[in-house]
Amino acid sequence: MTETTLRQIFYVSRGAPGVDVDQILQQSRHNNAVDGITGVLWHDGDHFLQVIEGPQSSVAATYARIAGDPRHRDLTILSDRTVAAREFGYWSMERATRSLNDGDAVLARIERRLADAPDTLRRAFAAAAAR
Ligand SMILES: Cc1cc2nc3c(=O)[nH]c(=O)nc-3n(C[C@H](O)[C@H](O)[C@H](O)COP(=O)(O)O)c2cc1C
Repeated sequence: MTETTLRQIFYVSRGAPGVDVDQILQQSRHNNAVDGITGVLWHDGDHFLQVIEGPQSSVAATYARIAGDPRHRDLTILSDRTVAAREFGYWSMERATRSLNDGDAVLARIERRLADAPDTLRRAFAAAAAR
């Protein structure tokens, strides 16, 4: 039996001024539930960090829409890989709103969530959060 191949993309971008993150989340949660996508979205008032994962074809289509969205720019893919199992499977799209650099609590929370993630992903997050 062949299992669906799961793809996971982790990227960072710069949000457009005044971007409505709640609206993005609402739209994302709706679409992702239909498409079988899970992930996490962080926004620090400037940067977005997002992980999306799911069946390869869903991730390709979702990322193509996200990449063409004028509500952010300068997208940089930090990791793009195949995963044996979902690493962010609990959230259709989880959000963190406080500044990524604002105190240790948010970073610690995210790092805990990344504790079981591969080194590549944790290193990518650390590099992105330090920007
Ligand atoms: C930072 C950011 C993250 C986004 N994340 C998702 C997402 O996880 N899933 C999704 O379907 N759309 C996401 N979008 C929205 C897409 O770019 C696009 O507007 C949307 O998928 C269009 O779907 P609709 O035509 O069904 O409204 C995101 C947009 C931005 C700016």
